[in-house]
Amino acid sequence: MSHRKECSSMRLRLLVVWLLLASASPGQTVHAIADIFKPLASPALAVRDLSYLVFAICGAIFVIVAGLLTYALFRFRRRASDGNSEPPQVYGSNQIEIAWTVIPILIVFVLTMTTARVIVALQDKSQPANALQVTVIGHQWWWEIRYPGLNIVTANELHVPVSQPGRERLAFLTLESADVAHSFWVPQLAGKTDVIPNRANHMWLDPRETGIYLGNCAEYCGTQHANMLIRVVADSAEDFDKWIAQQQKPATSDQSSAQSRAAFLGMACVNCHTVRGTSAHGTFGPDLTHLMSRRTLASGMIPNTFGTVFAWVGHPQAIKPGNLMPDMQLNDKELGQVAAYLSTLR
Ligand code: CUA
Repeated sequence: MSHRKECSSMRLRLLVVWLLLASASPGQTVHAIADIFKPLASPALAVRDLSYLVFAICGAIFVIVAGLLTYALFRFRRRASDGNSEPPQVYGSNQIEIAWTVIPILIVFVLTMTTARVIVALQDKSQPANALQVTVIGHQWWWEIRYPGLNIVTANELHVPVSQPGRERLAFLTLESADVAHSFWVPQLAGKTDVIPNRANHMWLDPRETGIYLGNCAEYCGTQHANMLIRVVADSAEDFDKWIAQQQKPATSDQSSAQSRAAFLGMACVNCHTVRGTSAHGTFGPDLTHLMSRRTLASGMIPNTFGTVFAWVGHPQAIKPGNLMPDMQLNDKELGQVAAYLSTLR
């Protein structure tokens, strides 16, 4: 293919991506990103309430100090009748000095103790018998999500059951990193928790409303840090059970996709990706067994459709420069086969 032709075909593919992005249809309720003032889970509520207390105390200190300062500036300013003599110089007052030492110590004590109480309550949360266990592994630049007890592996979209009064369901996350330091942050659900190599950190969530909660990596981890997005999908109990049953199935072995499947399995894709139920066992990239059940591609960057899968496999570096999926240099026929097979993985 000539250089010009190649450029125009790439431009066409990018256009497809942008069109799909623009027309992405709204599905479930998407809760606004970074809205820390609308917490919808216990850890985020605790953090918000503590923030309000700290803000109220610090705000009161500011108003008192700034008020006294303003009063003194006007009340004791130099007047024409003052002449050139120095004003009276006043030194030392045990009462005042004790007051302005003891009061701040008490304030710091209150702030320390209330903060410690929230931290301990969040960290030492006991796990109920029906708690969901999830391991989330940060990668440059996507999230691997494993449900150890359920034999499910997925990516970038963490499904948990909604937790409602009388039917509380807690999800306990074990956070690990495959490479560098990341940070897991879904503002409406909980505070940030660092994701550090060779260490397991823990946190828990109990979303109180169904819907999609947006979050992102909150620790600079390389060039695509800003595109390391996460979605927490809080399902109703019934939807969550359905999701589990669907995810536990091996990939479809439908006869109609036999040809494209054989083409896919013959390519280098299988060295990095797993498709359960086939000979693809790679673990370096995201598990593709139920790829099309996810709403987005490239860790939340673009919607997940046949068109975007086609564009992504063709030119992953054009969409997410620096990401660890190489441009496989597939010809149009191969690309069509791979995209056709991947789009059957529901
Ligand atoms: Cu991962 Cu920033």
